[in-house]
Amino acid sequence: METKLLKTAQDAGTLLAQGGLVGFATETVYGLGADATNATAVARIYEAKGRPSFNPLIIHVPSLADAEPYVEMNEIARRLAATFWPGPLTLVLPLRPNSGICDLVTAGLSTVAIRVPDHEQARDVLRTAGTPIAAPSANPSGRISATTAQHVMHGLSGRIDAVLEGGPCSVGLESTIVAVAPTPTVLRFGGLALRDIEAITGPLSHDTTPAAIAAPGQLSSHYAPRQALRMDAARAEAGEVLLGFGEVQCDLNLSPRADLREAAANLFTHLHSLDRLDQPIAVSPIPDHGLGRAINDRLRRAAAPRD
Ligand code: TXA
Ligand code: MG
Repeated sequence: METKLLKTAQDAGTLLAQGGLVGFATETVYGLGADATNATAVARIYEAKGRPSFNPLIIHVPSLADAEPYVEMNEIARRLAATFWPGPLTLVLPLRPNSGICDLVTAGLSTVAIRVPDHEQARDVLRTAGTPIAAPSANPSGRISATTAQHVMHGLSGRIDAVLEGGPCSVGLESTIVAVAPTPTVLRFGGLALRDIEAITGPLSHDTTPAAIAAPGQLSSHYAPRQALRMDAARAEAGEVLLGFGEVQCDLNLSPRADLREAAANLFTHLHSLDRLDQPIAVSPIPDHGLGRAINDRLRRAAAPRD
C-alpha cells in the first residue's frame, strides 16, 4: 500500500471515519489512529506496528463533553479533566455499557484510557472523524516514538494509509496516565508533571512497574476465561467448546476464511461469549506470524495455570 502524505485535518478525519489507518500529530507524540468502534481498523494498528501483544490503547476525543458517552467520571476524574484537558493527561476510567468501543481497544478490560489532545489540528481531525480514535504512538513496536511526520513515514510507510503533516510535537513525550478508581494511581509518567496533578488529587500512589505499564489488569481475572483454555486443538473433546480458526466445525469461529486481521478483531468478543457458557474452551491452531503472534500471546496467558 502507498502511504499518502495528507495536508488537511478534514482529509485525515474522513479517512479515519472510513476505517483508515492515519498517523497524526498531537502535542505529545504522533499517534497512529483508527476508529475505536471498528475492530478491523483497530486490528490493523497492531498489524502495522508489529506489536507482539495486545496492550490496551488510548482513545482520543475532541473535548470533555465528547468523552461523556464513553466513560463514567467520578468527582476527581471530572476535576482532573476540567483542569488538564486538552493536555497530556490520560485518564483510565470505567467504560459505559454499550459504549461501542471495541474489545480490542481495551484488550477486554472494563476500563478505557482516554484523553483530549492539546493540539488544534488533532482536535479538528477528531471532530471530522466523529468517532473516538484509538491511537498508540506511531512507531513500529519497540522503536522510538515519532515526533515528526517524517519519523512516522520512515517507520511505517507502506503499512498505513496516510500521515497528516502536523509539524513537530511540542511536548515530545507520551501523556501521563492516571487511573482514577479505586484510588488515584499513576500508571505512566509522562508529559504532565506529577506535582501539577497532585495539587488537585493530593499525594498519588504510583504503579509504574512493567506489568502495570505494559498491560494493566493483565493479572486480573478479567483477562482469563473462568474455565480452562487449551490451545492448538484439532477438535473439541467431550465437554469443551471449540473456538475455531479457518474451515473447522466449531461453536464460534475467529475467522472462517483464516484471516488473522479478522481473527484479531473477533478475539476478545468471542472469548467473552464463550466464557458465558462456562465450559472449557479449546482453540484451533493459529499461525504464529503477523497478528497471529499477538493472538497466541493472549491465548497463552489465558491458558496459563491460575492461582
Ligand atoms: O501521548 C500519548 O498518550 C500518545 C499519543 C498518541 O496520544 N499515545 C500513547 O498511546 O502513548 P499508547 O497506546 O502507546 O499507550 C497506551 C498506554 C499503555 O501503557 C497502556 O498500558 C495504558 O495506556 N492503558 C490503556 N488502557 C488502559 C487501561 N484500561 N488501564 C490501564 N492502562 C491502560
Ligand atoms: Mg508507545
